[in-house]
Amino acid sequence: MIVLGIETSCDDSAVGLYDTGRKVLASVLAAQLEHAPYGGVVPELASRVHLRNLPPVLRSALDGAGLDPGNLDAVAVTQGPGLMGSLLVGLAFARALGHAWDRPVVGVHHIESHILANHLERDMVFPALVLVASGGHSQIVLARRPGDYALLATTRDDAAGEAFDKVAKVLGLGFPGGPRIEERARRGDPEAIAFPVARLGDGGLDFSFSGLKTAARIRWEERPPAGEAGLDDFCASFQRAVVAQLLDRVLRAVRGRDVQALYLAGGVAANRTLLAAAREALDPLGLPVFAPSPRYCTDNGAMVACAAALRLEADPAPAPPDQPFPRGAIASWR
Ligand code: KG4
Ligand code: ZN
Repeated sequence: MIVLGIETSCDDSAVGLYDTGRKVLASVLAAQLEHAPYGGVVPELASRVHLRNLPPVLRSALDGAGLDPGNLDAVAVTQGPGLMGSLLVGLAFARALGHAWDRPVVGVHHIESHILANHLERDMVFPALVLVASGGHSQIVLARRPGDYALLATTRDDAAGEAFDKVAKVLGLGFPGGPRIEERARRGDPEAIAFPVARLGDGGLDFSFSGLKTAARIRWEERPPAGEAGLDDFCASFQRAVVAQLLDRVLRAVRGRDVQALYLAGGVAANRTLLAAAREALDPLGLPVFAPSPRYCTDNGAMVACAAALRLEADPAPAPPDQPFPRGAIASWR
């Protein structure tokens, strides 16, 4: 089965092609540089740029894979959560293609597609624990099998990627912050500054990054780091505090649960320091840790196609997507 996937939940216009036999056939993305002067994503601008980007991105994905619409079994699209205008453009585009090509259209939950991005390069094992950390979400999900999920933890305030982005902005490193902080952190000393690692009073598994974000801003204002090396140390120390919190929750979530693996998902999973630290932490428990290649951690169309293909294998005629949903927790479909 070959599925075309369209992802427009935020500011990347992406199209991917996934074959259940051969895995990823194409993954093409147009990043929107138009937001740079504004220091963040401008929702209405994002919608208009998606409208312009999607036709050439689609063409490039099909040409790159040497496929025609006639080769496709279904068109998949991110239905939510995300920016309403961006989702509307993607959904309208997908439905128009489904109509023109006479193919079913499948709506996909954005968090589910990030999780199943782990299936793009090697088959996933279940049941698994998944740490989803992106610009909009920080969650721990128990994935019993594709389509069967339980949300174990979420964030009380900022998402992990959002914390990276906001602190990078304070440091003048630009957007997106995660990769820039990771790059500098490679050269820095993670023990230079002892940033706080939040523990919630109720002992729950939820995340909270706003205290760390504020601590970083105050430290920056009161004792700005000296020179490039000081900035590298700042980044390494901040990244260490984010990773420490993420793994604190994961280790507690894993306790007493019969799972086969830990998967990392979402843009922050592109952080290879996080992956290495997770492997080190879970190795004593005999639990393998996997993450997609960085290009499949951040938003892409292949993961949308993959999530839809797995669904279609279990449910050949899912209800076509009606409205986009800007918010909403991951839902099981079986
Ligand atoms: O999954 P994604 O592309 O979009 C959302 O669904 O939010 O995630 C984007 C987020 C941004 O906050 C970005 O700073 C973060 O992922 N990110 C990283 C890295 N690469 C991207 N965070 C830490 N380290 C990275 N290498
Ligand atoms: Zn995402």
